[in-house]
Amino acid sequence: MREITFPRGREIVLGVGAGIAAYKSCDLLRRLQDHGFLVTVIPTPSSLNFVGKATWEALSGRKVNTDVWENIPAVPHVSLGAKADFLIIAPATADLIARIAAGRADDLLTNTVLTTLAPIILVPAMHPQMWQNQATAANVALLRSRGIHVLEPAVGRLTGDDIGIGRFPETSEIIAKFLEISQSNCDLLGRKILITAGGTREAIDPVRYIGNRSSGKQGYALAFAAAKRGAIVELIAANSTIPDIEGITTIHVESADELDLVVRDRFPEADALLMCAAVADAKPNQYSDSKIKKSALSQIELTTNPDILANIAKKRRSNQVLLGFAAETDSDLLTFGKAKLLAKGVDFLYVNQVSQGAIFGSDLTSGYILDREGGAAKVEEVSKDTLSEILLDNVVERLRYANV
Ligand code: CTP
Repeated sequence: MREITFPRGREIVLGVGAGIAAYKSCDLLRRLQDHGFLVTVIPTPSSLNFVGKATWEALSGRKVNTDVWENIPAVPHVSLGAKADFLIIAPATADLIARIAAGRADDLLTNTVLTTLAPIILVPAMHPQMWQNQATAANVALLRSRGIHVLEPAVGRLTGDDIGIGRFPETSEIIAKFLEISQSNCDLLGRKILITAGGTREAIDPVRYIGNRSSGKQGYALAFAAAKRGAIVELIAANSTIPDIEGITTIHVESADELDLVVRDRFPEADALLMCAAVADAKPNQYSDSKIKKSALSQIELTTNPDILANIAKKRRSNQVLLGFAAETDSDLLTFGKAKLLAKGVDFLYVNQVSQGAIFGSDLTSGYILDREGGAAKVEEVSKDTLSEILLDNVVERLRYANV
């Protein structure tokens, strides 16, 4: 078993230009953290005249560099941009906008802008005349044409006696715009979601096992989608060949007994269990340490595996949500599904048709989401990513209801 932990879908680089509004970015940083984002600040060297490195390091809890000549072995001008899911530059001054438009790379922030593939959002703040100057207007138009999101500055009081367009917008407006652009949904923020994926293998001898055709794709898709919504995800993967996802704690298991052990250990802390793994229903009575000769293979005595989901459902708290999966080859999906939902004691069961090789290893899925109130929502030919979002919407709704 091995574990990895990285944040995923929630890494932000906050670039800070040399405008007086830099101090307002301290609040922006805090509010982004409230939404579960992890923030690395890259101030331009001259912005440190307004807010110093110590403030950014204290607020972000991370090391702060301003130019490419610091921390060379970490190659920060590439690594920060590569790790970022979003880049927000606030405030973006006229000079910084001009440098980005020209493709300059004269400090760490502009280097990062050039190397990142993440969406970029600029929050301009400057004197009205600078904002309305033709050079700035042309630069903004150029950046927008390149797909960079440049927000409109607010109108109001500026430094000194001036009033006009160029104010740094309210933090809440920037956050709302950011969530809209990034399509970041934070409705699972801080929730602990336990997900199982793949298929168990029951060893017969050192070379043979009883297994199934589950690829793990649906469980991994669910894990990724839940993490993007701000959940703390633990993924228990049974024999999947899919690489670990950054930001998701992944525990690798092989057999149903191992899976059972980890589920029972992790479940008490979870808000929801999404039991996507295909569990082998039986295992050999006895594992043979040496390879069994084929002459002795005509009969293998089997014993049933624990029903992990049904057992855990008996121990659930009322505010924990349980989702099971059922792959059926029979045409009467709904009847089988409803009976299984009740037998397992889950809130939801996603039941799908897997005859003729459909679903396993495929990227598309069709089926029904059954709930314990008797509901049956049809899902037709959607990607496993889309199904994940639909299932998580249901889980979110049930969690909200479960906690009142
Ligand atoms: N499951 C489980 N432990 C088992 C078997 C299944 O936890 N020993 C879980 C699966 O992860 C899935 C759900 O139960 O979420 C339904 O799995 P399925 O294989 O369809 O159920 P079975 O109880 O094995 O029913 P069947 O007789 O149809 O195989």
